[in-house]
Amino acid sequence: MKIIIKALFTLFVSFVLIMNAFSQDTGAEWGVKTSHNKENNSKQAQVFRDGNYAMFIHWGLYSQIGNLWKGKTYYGIGEWIMEKRMANIPINEMKEYASTFNPSSFDAKTIVQLAKDAGMKYIVLTTKHHDGFAMYHSKVNKFNIVDATPFKRDPLMELATECKKQDVGLGFYYSHNVDWTAPGASRGPTKDDNGKEKNYDDYMREKCLPQLEEITTQYGPIQLVWFDQPGNMPVKYAKMCAEVVRKNQPDALVSGRVGYGLGDYTTLGDMEVPIENVEGMWESVDVTNDSWGYAWYDQNWKSPKQILKTVLSTIARGGTLMMNVGLDGKGQIPEPAKLSLLSVGKWIQQYPQVVYGVDASPWKHALPWGDVVRNGQKLYLVVYDWSVDGKLYLPGLKSGIDSSKLLNNKVETTITFKKTENLVCFNLPSAPPDKFASVLELTLTGEVKVDTAFAVDPNIGIYIPAKFAVNYGNEKADKQWMEKFGEWKTLNQITKWSSDAKATWDFETFRSGYYKIDISYTGVGKIVWKVRTDEGEEIQNQQNSSHIYSSFPIGWIKINKPGKHNITVTLEDGNRESASVNGIKITPVEF
Ligand code: GLC
Repeated sequence: MKIIIKALFTLFVSFVLIMNAFSQDTGAEWGVKTSHNKENNSKQAQVFRDGNYAMFIHWGLYSQIGNLWKGKTYYGIGEWIMEKRMANIPINEMKEYASTFNPSSFDAKTIVQLAKDAGMKYIVLTTKHHDGFAMYHSKVNKFNIVDATPFKRDPLMELATECKKQDVGLGFYYSHNVDWTAPGASRGPTKDDNGKEKNYDDYMREKCLPQLEEITTQYGPIQLVWFDQPGNMPVKYAKMCAEVVRKNQPDALVSGRVGYGLGDYTTLGDMEVPIENVEGMWESVDVTNDSWGYAWYDQNWKSPKQILKTVLSTIARGGTLMMNVGLDGKGQIPEPAKLSLLSVGKWIQQYPQVVYGVDASPWKHALPWGDVVRNGQKLYLVVYDWSVDGKLYLPGLKSGIDSSKLLNNKVETTITFKKTENLVCFNLPSAPPDKFASVLELTLTGEVKVDTAFAVDPNIGIYIPAKFAVNYGNEKADKQWMEKFGEWKTLNQITKWSSDAKATWDFETFRSGYYKIDISYTGVGKIVWKVRTDEGEEIQNQQNSSHIYSSFPIGWIKINKPGKHNITVTLEDGNRESASVNGIKITPVEF
């Protein structure tokens, strides 16, 4: 028995250590706030202010490997295929592999045209990823697409020329710290080909800084340089990297992942879209499928509606979105990504006023049917879920409404509404004008004033995430984990439910009656939850747990008087350590 417990403990400790190592390797600097957040009105910031939506392109030798190496498929982010936890490809084999790389179908014109038709304002290409292979003609290092492959063309030059022609912005991803093939670099070999010891300073002088010089001087004006994974690189080198950009491209932004708060803006965690407004200049980066770099098996594409929701929620939270495509080994964007992006582009062409140059939602979080963005006195209500009874409810608007119009392909339909102190009810047509997201434009009178409290939508109810709870005796924190290697997921959870722990959510209801309560949680075994309102109504029930977050019904609870309330959840019985709550759903019961 003792041996089994010891073995289990060792297994657990190793698991924790491995997970730690993974997260440090693939995303330690995420969400690092930069102290230098550019003012939104600076020249550099224009690309963020007006743009809001960009194309991220991961493309390299790894794209031709496509996560299939020597007959074996590796699941995870494709650009990490060389790394020891993926195929562990030796440096010399990777270098030899370059002689087979021939992405002959690469056509900069088609790609830039696609980005443009998709509504994206700039493109950021991986000029050198962690494998150290330069996707342009580098004069300082032969491991590049012109000198080391039969392809021989400089795609960066082709892209830069096309971007200029088609008036699309351009930015460069450059892995400044991690370089698996450069002697002296972080996670690179310690000796060069002649067996000579190399240190970090050598790597900086011989490869990183000269290559940064090249990409910031040879391809015309660029919008930004996107550094990645600074890890523990000495601060003086991070400063040098940022300085090269500032010297050669004074109008370009330096990304936050340069490290040490030296960037102009913050990049959140990979694939992370926040659920609450974030101040300052920031971006989210997400993928059209699961991997950044092309992976042959990865057909898990995001639909146009999913992508559109990601774009709009990022903008509504105050940020800019960069959506990734992994070009395949031939240099082309996979068909499904193309179709989804173009479909989103069509929507944006109809409603550009909702995407470009707009401000975050005054509600600071999504609403049950969709989201809101603001442009001066105008609010744009973006509705994903059309109501069956033709009513759309907007809670908490304190300002007056001058006009309300439903937009549809340049046709505007005036919408009537009834406004009470804390709720506006709009009378919509029975069918939504748009299959993905319909837009209601409100012009407000006076100052824009909003009560940001969560309100139970009379039709839909509301799901309030754990992040918005006031908690006591338990722990509330963001949880980040990898689904496949390098594929990150983020959510907020309340965990470690001691016997006196509780979580309380504030909300508003507009009518009395019964409400169905569901709790979204993970855990081990059966758990007894108690739910109590500020009016003293209580329900209690036992439900099983799942290892992934799932919603479990607890029961109906009565709200006696409409208005502001709160609801408190406690764990009465069950495995307290493993229980982890992600949010609560309150749905009105209709009779
Ligand atoms: C992480 C990954 C890297 C990827 C980047 C995209 O840093 O390690 O491979 O390019 O995220 O945001």
